[in-house]
Amino acid sequence: MKRYILAITGASGVLVGFRVLEELTKNFDVTLIVSEASLKVIRLETNFEFKDFEDFKNQFYTQNLKIYHESQIDAPPASGSYKTDGMFIVPCSIKTLSKIAYGFADNLITRTADVAIKENRRLIIAPREMPLSAIHLENMLKLAKLGVVITPLTLSFYHKPKTIEDLINFVVGKILDCMGIENDLYKRWGQ
Ligand SMILES: Cc1cc2nc3c(=O)[nH]c(=O)nc-3n(C[C@H](O)[C@H](O)[C@H](O)COP(=O)(O)O)c2cc1C
Repeated sequence: MKRYILAITGASGVLVGFRVLEELTKNFDVTLIVSEASLKVIRLETNFEFKDFEDFKNQFYTQNLKIYHESQIDAPPASGSYKTDGMFIVPCSIKTLSKIAYGFADNLITRTADVAIKENRRLIIAPREMPLSAIHLENMLKLAKLGVVITPLTLSFYHKPKTIEDLINFVVGKILDCMGIENDLYKRWGQ
């Protein structure tokens, strides 16, 4: 079975990350890494309730899902020997994006992303910020030149969305497309 890594960081749009998680766990082994800030944003933006990381982990447990906290720098994904078919960071904060652009591997998320880049594995980063400064854009350009796929969490309307779920599904479908994962989460142009 293929194995994908998903990191959720403390940018707005954590629900998009959860939707990616839902799709991935249907067919693949998944390694989820959450940052401390993401746990705060999850509490603020969603209806999920949990006491702490351990409680979060227990609530989300399924057999094909392993969950780590960013502080677990000794966890398997920190090593290039941990085989994966690719990594997603959805949503990706500007802070985490900047650290990855500079190889500043100070936690399990930035280290795992650094590993993906050095091992030439697919890395998909979905930043969420507005407006974007030249610093943000330069860091994204740097990563794009290294082969990282930048998939900003943007709105689109050509698929005629009617609900927030339609908007989320479109973005998630596009993100999965970038990893080559079959999906019919949105109506493709000309379909
Ligand atoms: C409710 C909330 C929304 C946030 N939204 C964003 C965002 O959209 N983009 C961003 O870069 N940072 C955002 N932040 C700030 C990040 O959480 C902060 O920079 C944090 O240090 C990121 O840490 P992490 O990358 O380790 O998760 C938000 C913070 C809060 C509390």
